[in-house]
Amino acid sequence: MQDIKEIWKQAVAAALTELAQQNGIVDIIRAEQVVVEIPPKPELGDLGIPMFPFAKVLRKGPPQIAQAVAERLSSSGNAQWGTVAAEGPYVNIRLEKAAVTKQILQAVLEHPEDFERPQSLKNRKIMVEFSSPNTNKPLHLGHLRNDVLGESISRILAACGAEVRKVCIINDRGIHICKSMLAYKEFGQGKTPESEGVKSDRFVGDWYVRFHKMSQEDPSAEERAQELLRKWEQGDAETVSLWKQMNSWAVEGIKKTYERTGVSFDQYYFESQTYLKGKEEVLKGLEQGFFYREEDGSVWVDLTADGLDKKVLLRKDGTSLYITQDIGTAIFRHHDWPFERLVYVVGSEQQYHFKVLFKVLEKLGYDWAKNLYHLSYGMVNLPEGKMKSREGTVVDADDLIDSLKAMALQEIKEKNREEAVGDGESVAEKIAVGALHYYLLQVSPTKDMLFNPRESLSFNGNTGPYLQYMGARISSMLRKKAGSLAESGSVKPELLSDEAEWALVKTLSQYPETVSLAASQMDPSIIAAYLYELSKAFSRFYHDCPILNAESADLAATRLALSKAVLEVLKSAMNLVCIPFLDVM
Ligand code: ARG
Repeated sequence: MQDIKEIWKQAVAAALTELAQQNGIVDIIRAEQVVVEIPPKPELGDLGIPMFPFAKVLRKGPPQIAQAVAERLSSSGNAQWGTVAAEGPYVNIRLEKAAVTKQILQAVLEHPEDFERPQSLKNRKIMVEFSSPNTNKPLHLGHLRNDVLGESISRILAACGAEVRKVCIINDRGIHICKSMLAYKEFGQGKTPESEGVKSDRFVGDWYVRFHKMSQEDPSAEERAQELLRKWEQGDAETVSLWKQMNSWAVEGIKKTYERTGVSFDQYYFESQTYLKGKEEVLKGLEQGFFYREEDGSVWVDLTADGLDKKVLLRKDGTSLYITQDIGTAIFRHHDWPFERLVYVVGSEQQYHFKVLFKVLEKLGYDWAKNLYHLSYGMVNLPEGKMKSREGTVVDADDLIDSLKAMALQEIKEKNREEAVGDGESVAEKIAVGALHYYLLQVSPTKDMLFNPRESLSFNGNTGPYLQYMGARISSMLRKKAGSLAESGSVKPELLSDEAEWALVKTLSQYPETVSLAASQMDPSIIAAYLYELSKAFSRFYHDCPILNAESADLAATRLALSKAVLEVLKSAMNLVCIPFLDVM
C-alpha cells in the first residue's frame, strides 16, 4: 500500500526540488531525505517535517522554506490527504481523517499480505543462526531468550521480504559431552531415559551434573574425560557408539522443546561434521603464512595489529577448539547457501570470540566474512539468582514452561473459564508460551534482564496474556456480529470522528514502518512496544466508543471494520514475536 507518510515525503521532496529549480539550483531532493516527525502537541497537526536539513542547499532560512513549501503543497493535488501549514521551521500536516481512515481500512482488510509485509529487504538472502545448544544438557532459560530472539528476528526479516534461512549448530563434540559420557559409563550402564522415565535431554544433563560431583571427589575424573575425548577423536568404536547414543538422546529431547515453543530450523549443522574442515582450513592458513606454530606445536593467529590478541586455533596435540569448528561451519554454510548476511544470535559473553572468528575468516581470504554479524544479547536470570549448569541450579526450559502453564491453568480454573476455553491444557500452554516470549522480547536484546514468572502472566499489564486477551476479546465481538446492528450497516470511514478512533487509525498506519524498523535494528522489542501501543489504543476506543450498539447501523459497521483491522494487525504482530493467538481465553 502507499503509506500516508510516504505520500507526504514525496510531495515535500517534489516541492523542495521545484523550489530549488526556481532558484537556479540543480540539486534534486529525494523523499528519503525528508524526515517525518510527530509534533509535540496534537494541535500542531499529525505530522511535522523539519526544514533544517535543506537550508544549506536552498540557501534560505528554514522558516522561509517552510512557508514556501506549505504554499506549494496547499495548492497541489495532495489536498485530499490533509491540510498543510508552516509553523516556524516546520511544515505541519493535519491529515484528512476520512481519507486516511478509508485508505488504512482498505489496505488492512483487503490486502493484508501487502500491508503487513513491507518490502524493505526484498530478495535479500539472510541466514540466521540461533539456539545452537551443546549436547550435554537440556535447554535452559538463556536458550529460551536466544531461541525466541532468533525465531522472531527471522520472522521480522522475512516479513520485510528477505529470504531467510534459519540454522542451528549443534555442538555435539568435545569435552563437555565426554563428561556426561564418563559419568554414564561409570554409574549408568543399562539405564535409559525410558527406564528412568525422564525426558531424554534431561537424562543426559543429569549425568553431566553427576560428573561434576564425581570430579570433586576424584581429581582423576577430568583426565579420564580427556582420555575419552582422545579415544573419540581416534574413532574408538565403543566410545563413538556411546557418544552417538547420548547425543541422539540429547538432540531428540531438545527438538521436543523447540516444537513446544514454536521454534524451527531449515538446517541443522553438527560440530562433529564441521570441525575437521576447520582444522584443514587452519593448516592451510598456516602454510600460507597467515598463522604461526608455537614451539609446543600449537597453531596461533596474531591479531594484535587488528586491535585483538593472539589466539590459539589448534592445540599442541592437534585437537581442535571451539573456534576451529566455527571456521569450518561458516565455510560450509556459505557453500550450501551463499548468504548476503549471516547473523549469529549468541550471548554477549562471546563477543570476543566472534571478533576473532570474523577476522580469521577474512585472513583466510573469504570476502563474505565482512557480512557476518554477531547479534549479541544479554544474560537472563530469575529474581532468585544466578544459574550454574554444573551445579545443577540452572533453570530448565521445560520446567519453567511447565510451571507457567500450571499457573495459567489455575487462573483459568479460578475464573471459571474451563468450559468457555474448551481445551484448558492447550490454552494454558499457549498462555505460558505467550507470557514467556513477550517478557523476553520486550527488553532490547543487548540488555541483561530478570525473568519474573508471576509478572509475565499478569492479565492486566504489559504482558503476552494481555495481548492474547485483547485478541480473544475482538474475536468474540466479531462472532457476535451476526444478527447485530452492524450487519445491516455499511462501512463509512467519514463517520469515525472520535479522538480514540483517530488515534487507533494512526497507530494502525504505523505498522509497516514499525516492522521495517524492527528489521533494520534487529530488535523485536520494537514490535513488542508497538503491540502494547496498539492494545492500549484499542482499549481506549473500546471503552469510549460503543461498537455493536453504536448510534447507527453504519457507525456500528464502520467501528466493527476498524476492530477487524486491529485484529488483523494484532495477529500479524503477535506472530512476529512468537506469541500464540487465542480465539477464546
Ligand atoms: N553451543 C555454544 C554454547 O553453548 C554456542 C554456539 C554459538 N554459535 C556458534 N556458531 N559458535 O556456548
